[in-house]
Amino acid sequence: MNAINRLAAVISLATLFPLAAHAADAKGNVEVVHWWTSGGEAKAVGVLKQLVEKDGYTWQDSAVAGGGGAAAMTVLKTRAVSGNPPSAAQIKGPDIQEWASLGLLTNVDAVAKANNWDKLLSKTVSDTMKFEGHYVAVPVNIHRVNWLWVNPEAFKKAGIAKAPTTLEELYAAGDKLKAAGIIPIAHGGQPWQDSTVFEDMVLSVMGADGFKKAFIDQDEATLTGAEMTKVFTELKKLKTYMDPDGAGQDWNLEAAKVISGKAGMQIMGDWAKSEWSAAGKKAGSDYECVPFPGTQGSYTYNIDSLAMFKLAKKNDTPGNNAARDDLAKVVLEPEFQYVFNQNKGSIPVRNDLDMTKFDSCGQASAKDFADADKAGKLEPSMAHNMATSLAVQGAIFDVVTNFMSDKNADPAKAAKQLYAGISSAK
Ligand code: GAL
Repeated sequence: MNAINRLAAVISLATLFPLAAHAADAKGNVEVVHWWTSGGEAKAVGVLKQLVEKDGYTWQDSAVAGGGGAAAMTVLKTRAVSGNPPSAAQIKGPDIQEWASLGLLTNVDAVAKANNWDKLLSKTVSDTMKFEGHYVAVPVNIHRVNWLWVNPEAFKKAGIAKAPTTLEELYAAGDKLKAAGIIPIAHGGQPWQDSTVFEDMVLSVMGADGFKKAFIDQDEATLTGAEMTKVFTELKKLKTYMDPDGAGQDWNLEAAKVISGKAGMQIMGDWAKSEWSAAGKKAGSDYECVPFPGTQGSYTYNIDSLAMFKLAKKNDTPGNNAARDDLAKVVLEPEFQYVFNQNKGSIPVRNDLDMTKFDSCGQASAKDFADADKAGKLEPSMAHNMATSLAVQGAIFDVVTNFMSDKNADPAKAAKQLYAGISSAK
């Protein structure tokens, strides 16, 4: 093909290509690192992609599989160190401040001001999104962590009348499910899943005050005392009801076992609901959500948020900056908040939306959040990066996962290791 013919071919291709795609490329690109890769979560994040594209920008999806986000964080660190950050990444809690203090984040104050974020968000939430008074991240949703998911059909088969509300009832249900040949508790043995259950157990045994003393104050007497030994003792018992094939399993594959009735329950935050919804199941009839036994009235929260990065020189164009600002704007708009959260299993982060559009689990979550807040029982999740630095969290994960994988583990010893691990990580 000579040069003229090649040019002609390009021109004719260009006329075939949809105009919108050109406009999008020309307007700018936004690259987002996240770990929402399960079927239900991918569907939810697809909503964000659609809305950004509707505004004429190009969405570059940089999903890194791995529940809890440890793998995504490793990728993000490598990219930041090599001077090639994305436009935005899923970063949460105190970690937002750490990234900002390294000078890697940019502020989106103009978007926040134009869209009234200070009014829309509660102060606890907006403070977490700010560094030195500037918005460097946008909150996406609020997940509740201390949930138990129940398959009523499996319960019926095993002759269990109702969802458990105490640890004793939980073990009794576990015995009946076992006897009926059903896996009592679907659980994937990955460090973040082990610690999700562990923090629920801390909340159940020690209450909201104990939870606070253990994970926020990191108080020696609480971490090494008799109640923490009891937490590990209960955890050891709970382990005997967990999926024997759960080693290393992803949370969504374990959720699938409860959805199919192969297992009766799962202890998991409400992103689990995204899998039930994606499977076409209805809250309140096909499945039930109840607080983890013994944690009624308390609420462990996990706020997903997208932190905004300064772009590398080669990407630092007005179009790409505009695309990142558009992402920040869209995330807090009602259209996104409704559809995303209905798919994701979480509740909106702004509190002026109509919760009757949500199913019974979503409504319960919103009500319990407000009640727990009033009662002083709203706690940041340790397992989901809301309560401690990642270093301290890593030390806790190590102790808990070693404990869970050792049949002969000693609860009193684990409590001591917990304090030692936290102290050296600080
Ligand atoms: C959490 C995250 C949730 C969900 C979950 C499972 O840390 O906040 O949105 O993705 O991990 O991966």
